[in-house]
Amino acid sequence: MNKILLVGCGHMGTALVNSWLNLKSYSFTIVDPYNYKKLKNKFKIKKINVQNKAPTQKEMQKFDIIIFAVKPQIADYVLSEYKNFKLKKNILISSIIAGKKINFFEKRIKNANQFVRIMPNMPALIRNGISCFVSSNNLSASNKKKINQLFLNVGKTLWLKNENEIDKATAVSGSGPGYIFALIHSLEVGAQKLGFSKKQSRELVVTTILGSIYLMQETKKEPIDLKKLIAVKGGTTEAGINYLKKINIEKIIYNTYMSAFKKAKILGKKN
Ligand SMILES: NC(=O)c1ccc[n+]([C@@H]2O[C@H](COP(=O)([O-])OP(=O)(O)OC[C@H]3O[C@@H](n4cnc5c(N)ncnc54)[C@H](OP(=O)(O)O)[C@@H]3O)[C@@H](O)[C@H]2O)c1
Repeated sequence: MNKILLVGCGHMGTALVNSWLNLKSYSFTIVDPYNYKKLKNKFKIKKINVQNKAPTQKEMQKFDIIIFAVKPQIADYVLSEYKNFKLKKNILISSIIAGKKINFFEKRIKNANQFVRIMPNMPALIRNGISCFVSSNNLSASNKKKINQLFLNVGKTLWLKNENEIDKATAVSGSGPGYIFALIHSLEVGAQKLGFSKKQSRELVVTTILGSIYLMQETKKEPIDLKKLIAVKGGTTEAGINYLKKINIEKIIYNTYMSAFKKAKILGKKN
């Protein structure tokens, strides 16, 4: 049985635990001082141990993996609560905290030597997420397998080479669902401005997006080639796409990624 301690269980922590509830070979303890009562109630039938403060030294020694899932702004303070514990010999310290580097954890949790930084995303809630990983050099094969297996339960996993890549993944897939929802909202607002009802707009926009993704997956064609099939010369799609070119949509997307990437770097600076 792999014993997992999750420190912080807000939006992302809850999304993860929801998908892990029925795993047989893992047991979970959650520490969240503020949402303790709500979480205890939510997970009571699933025998998840929810605590309102850090475990005792005795409890601490049984954990195989710790996952820190608090906001970056309070990471320093939260880690200070865990710095003096004696830990299991091969414990894996992992974190989904945006921006915070492996070095940040190495400096604070001196009694461990295996660290992994993970960037999951919100569709983990429905097991359709993608989680990116980067580890310290000495990650054991068995710990790598354990943590990878855990996150395979919430979608795909991707191991990256270095921390710069994980900051980039934060900008693309970590924050990505946020951009997609903002985009869907804009597409729906646009359809409503054309005169469609809210309900009609939802149907038109969402069916179009889903259909396009499925078409891409089934045909295995490049999006740019599928676009060419639809945007025939002199047609309506070409007219719409010409506008996207005029406003330089690629630059807008790149700048969106860069804004998130730079923010991940800033959040990671306070090491
Ligand atoms: N949300 C996403 O889609 C997403 C995706 C990838 C990565 N992440 C990263 O995951 C981390 C958590 O994000 P989130 O959206 O889940 O944030 P969140 O909803 O604020 O969750 C953090 C949780 O930690 C709790 N907490 C505060 N102090 C604590 C302490 N001393 N010990 C234990 N728990 C404590 C918070 O309680 P209060 O709410 O009362 O403060 C909250 O429940 C962030 O670093 C974020 O960048 C999030």
